[in-house]
Amino acid sequence: MRMIDIIEKKRDGNELTKEEISFFVKGASNDSLPDYQISALLMAIYINGMTDYELEILTSEMAESGEVKRWDNVDGLTCDKHSTGGVGDKTSLIVVPIAASLGVKVVKMSGKGLGHTGGTVDKLEAIKGFCTVLTPEKLTENVKKVGAVMIGQSGNLAPADKRLYAIRDVTGTVSSIPLIASSIMSKKIASGSKCIVLDVKCGSGAFMKTPERAYELAEKMVEIGRRKNRKMSAVVTDMDIPLGYAIGNSLEVIEAVNVLKGGQKGDLYDICIELAAHMLMLSLGLPLEECRKKAVMAVESGSAYEKLKEIVSAQGGDVSYLEDTEMFERSENVYEIRAKQSGYIGYMNCEGIGNTSVILGAGRSKKDQAIDHSAGIILCKKTGDEVTEGEVIAKLYTNQADNIALAAELFESSIDITNTRPEKKPLIYSVIE
Ligand code: URA
Repeated sequence: MRMIDIIEKKRDGNELTKEEISFFVKGASNDSLPDYQISALLMAIYINGMTDYELEILTSEMAESGEVKRWDNVDGLTCDKHSTGGVGDKTSLIVVPIAASLGVKVVKMSGKGLGHTGGTVDKLEAIKGFCTVLTPEKLTENVKKVGAVMIGQSGNLAPADKRLYAIRDVTGTVSSIPLIASSIMSKKIASGSKCIVLDVKCGSGAFMKTPERAYELAEKMVEIGRRKNRKMSAVVTDMDIPLGYAIGNSLEVIEAVNVLKGGQKGDLYDICIELAAHMLMLSLGLPLEECRKKAVMAVESGSAYEKLKEIVSAQGGDVSYLEDTEMFERSENVYEIRAKQSGYIGYMNCEGIGNTSVILGAGRSKKDQAIDHSAGIILCKKTGDEVTEGEVIAKLYTNQADNIALAAELFESSIDITNTRPEKKPLIYSVIE
């Protein structure tokens, strides 16, 4: 079989066979195919899409490109949760301890930042000592004893996705429904959880810009999961406004701790309660409304916050940073963005705001670049808020003083101040149970 024939077949809009997809995935994971041929096929898929048959085969082959975990030795159903990526999205840091404190066995496999979006692994690594790579024995021990693990994509889990993900990031092929669906679902299937809750984001900060496209992506992923005998839920949520007020790794951990301590309500809290409720519903088989009440109680009683400390401690993290968030290192420079006129925040381009945080040092512009955990943005105003001229809209945190002017310019061009208050959009667009 020749890769060039497969590329030409897809370029011309034809359906690939199981053997052809398998040849491609194996070549991507054992490095026998060069980046340029992989890129060409990814672009052909990006442009021509995939049939449901192709998508199912691609996902299975990617999941089976490495180790596929099983959790038969753990009592109860294990549950995973995944977001398609956003700005200020620290939901996993809140949702995982809520669900685990209520008896769900959570195996949360996360990624690093991708493009303008943040990654849970980078956020967890902002906590001194926290280790996102665990041995198989330690993984099982923590799931049994603590009830949850939060890990990165270790060496041999879906290695094909690791290679494709890195190539897509630099070839303009990220926002494709079959490529995102196969990337996410291959990892979820390989990590072995029986229940999977998907947070599918839509809006200016998401890879899917409209609720309709996000719903289409959600449907594809739910269908793949069901065919693999997984219990699935997908919630399509808004990413036209950053989630919460903090963007950047340690700033987001601090905000997550505030939510778990009961000190912050609003969009972030509401979405976390909903996602945690879906995890409870799938894993424990209880009605959704009862699960919502349980999730709220876990925050109010402080048990979810205590569970976060347990998870962090079991993975080598220093919990004193959670007990006293002043211990997190602060950036040397703080730059205030002020309103140029009075009015309302009419629109925020989340992708521009996410890219601002990357310029400040919170994300990567090059593969494997070290990130600055203290860098990021604290929003003081969000879409719909009233502002007066000169009032602080946001604070930019960085250790790279030379980048402040560029970051400030991008942030300012990502915000519109209007004379009338914009219409409020829903936080949750749709749910597939
Ligand atoms: N998250 C993933 O894991 N893969 C994608 O393609 C996009 C978001």
